[in-house]
Amino acid sequence: MSIERTLSIIKPDATRRNLTGLINAKFEDAGLKIIGQKRLQLTRTMAEKFYEIHKDRPFYNDLVDFMISGPVVVQVLEGENAVKSNRAVMGSTNPDEANEGTIRKEFAESIEANSVHGSDSLENANIEISFFFANIELVA
Ligand code: CMP
Repeated sequence: MSIERTLSIIKPDATRRNLTGLINAKFEDAGLKIIGQKRLQLTRTMAEKFYEIHKDRPFYNDLVDFMISGPVVVQVLEGENAVKSNRAVMGSTNPDEANEGTIRKEFAESIEANSVHGSDSLENANIEISFFFANIELVA
């Protein structure tokens, strides 16, 4: 077991429905500590860059449009095996396949408007955290 940090994004479908607090409670109930958090309106350039890894996927343009359709809350979660444990709390990308009690099962509207993003590896977590946060903004 090791203490890790991972990047989380509460997406526009969730901020629009005022679900930030309910989603944060899921993280905290799972033992993840929110050590940095800010509400942002992403620009198209930021969203394109953040999801660059998906730029050849058919859903890329729609995903970028969706991610700039309203505010997001970007956050850093810290805890034991935070990358994996956050992915367990989020549930499967497709809400139809997500387990009961997960964020996506309870809140996601669709595979695109799926309420949260979470880093998929420790390596990507470090890249994604530094995309949004300076070290001084992370207080454990
Ligand atoms: P996220 O974890 O943010 O990573 C990429 C996002 O693309 C994903 O969540 C979904 O919101 C979105 N997406 C839209 N369509 C698909 C799809 N068919 N497969 C995977 N991700 C998709």
